[in-house]
Amino acid sequence: MIYSSEHNSLDAAIALDAKDPLRKYRDEFSFPKLVEGKETLYFAGHSLGLLPNRTRKVMEDELASWGKYGVEGHFLGDHPWLPYHEFVTESLSRLAGCKPSEVVAMNTLTTNLHLMLVSFYRPTKTRYKILIENNTFPSDKYAVDSQARFHGFDANTAVVELKPREGEYKVHPEDIKAQIEALGDELALVMLGNCNYLSGQCFDMKTITELGHKAGAFVGFNMAHGAGNIEANLHDDDVDFAVWCSYKYLNSGPGGIAAAFVHEKHHGQKDLPRFEGWWGTNKETRFAMGPDFDPIPTVEAWQLSNPPIFQLAALRSSMELFDEAGLKNLRSKSIKITNYMEFLLKENVGDFVEIMTPEYVEGVQNRGCMLSLRFKKNPKELNKVLGEKAVICDFREPDIIRATPIPLYNSFEDVFKFVEVLKEFANA
Ligand SMILES: Cc1ncc(COP(=O)(O)O)c(C=O)c1O
Repeated sequence: MIYSSEHNSLDAAIALDAKDPLRKYRDEFSFPKLVEGKETLYFAGHSLGLLPNRTRKVMEDELASWGKYGVEGHFLGDHPWLPYHEFVTESLSRLAGCKPSEVVAMNTLTTNLHLMLVSFYRPTKTRYKILIENNTFPSDKYAVDSQARFHGFDANTAVVELKPREGEYKVHPEDIKAQIEALGDELALVMLGNCNYLSGQCFDMKTITELGHKAGAFVGFNMAHGAGNIEANLHDDDVDFAVWCSYKYLNSGPGGIAAAFVHEKHHGQKDLPRFEGWWGTNKETRFAMGPDFDPIPTVEAWQLSNPPIFQLAALRSSMELFDEAGLKNLRSKSIKITNYMEFLLKENVGDFVEIMTPEYVEGVQNRGCMLSLRFKKNPKELNKVLGEKAVICDFREPDIIRATPIPLYNSFEDVFKFVEVLKEFANA
């Protein structure tokens, strides 16, 4: 959809909402009322997604099961706890574009990243480098650095960052290719976000995987900022592993359970290094409590512990919404609503805002739903004003505001009102 000056009004935004087939999902969520009882303009889905109203009941059901059945809740009730993680597997596989046997909900994001690095960062004396994003989320950087050190390498030489061109934020596809090819035989692993947390640039997972494999490296992605808002085809793209959290776009609540994908070609390999725990061993014999690990022949072999049921319950509840809305529809709305925000920014505050996130290119998944904005006028003060006006975004030093129209629950009207607040500040 191409926007023009006639879309630069509240009425036009309301008209866009009226045509939005996903509009009803807004009512499924609790919007905080932090200032004078006013519903917040909530654009912080990349930090913590909103509470789906139906999650309260799902959580209460699990509390009720605990009260009613005690330990027998592992086997009784509508959703017994023993196989509970399996209740979200199909939904996660739809989001990740993979087989159910390739995805599992477990642990937290950084924990899962470490577990994957144990299996897929297997450096030798000569092939030991890890290619990561520029502006990598600190936890990802700490994880890869510490893994390099754990294997006896100097992280400063083993961990190599993608290089954007002078004065640019995004990394051009041809530069990614050149860097992978230049690392060549030294490259052990490519580990990128599918969507960079700071710039909002999305990477072409298929091409990067091909290039990484051609160089003889494993390739994994952190989908924290893409899961639930961009489409993924992890299986067909031949990605080795992926990890993501669910508390952002997947609305599973603070500290929600994370997910991991391991391509089926790596399943059942006896010589693959892996940290193990009892939840990864053969389900049939697990409770025989034997001393030897017998890996489940799926990604479930990477599970360590019996999972946190309340977190899984919250994820199960929100996954229902994703299944109902459908990722294709979400992506289609996401493109429209993020493009609308970009259009309004350019029309109304173009002189004050620099958009770091790559421009939308039709048919190319080069960004998700987030826009990263640099404010030329007093960004810290602006952030304060946003809070006072019940607008929640995310501020990153020194001058970046990340705003995320979430296709499941943000409206075009929200976006219009957000830009009005910026305009008022810019013109004051
Ligand atoms: C890209 C990325 N990596 C890692 C993390 C850390 O996640 P966790 O605290 O769940 O391990 C985050 C959290 O926001 C993130 O956005």
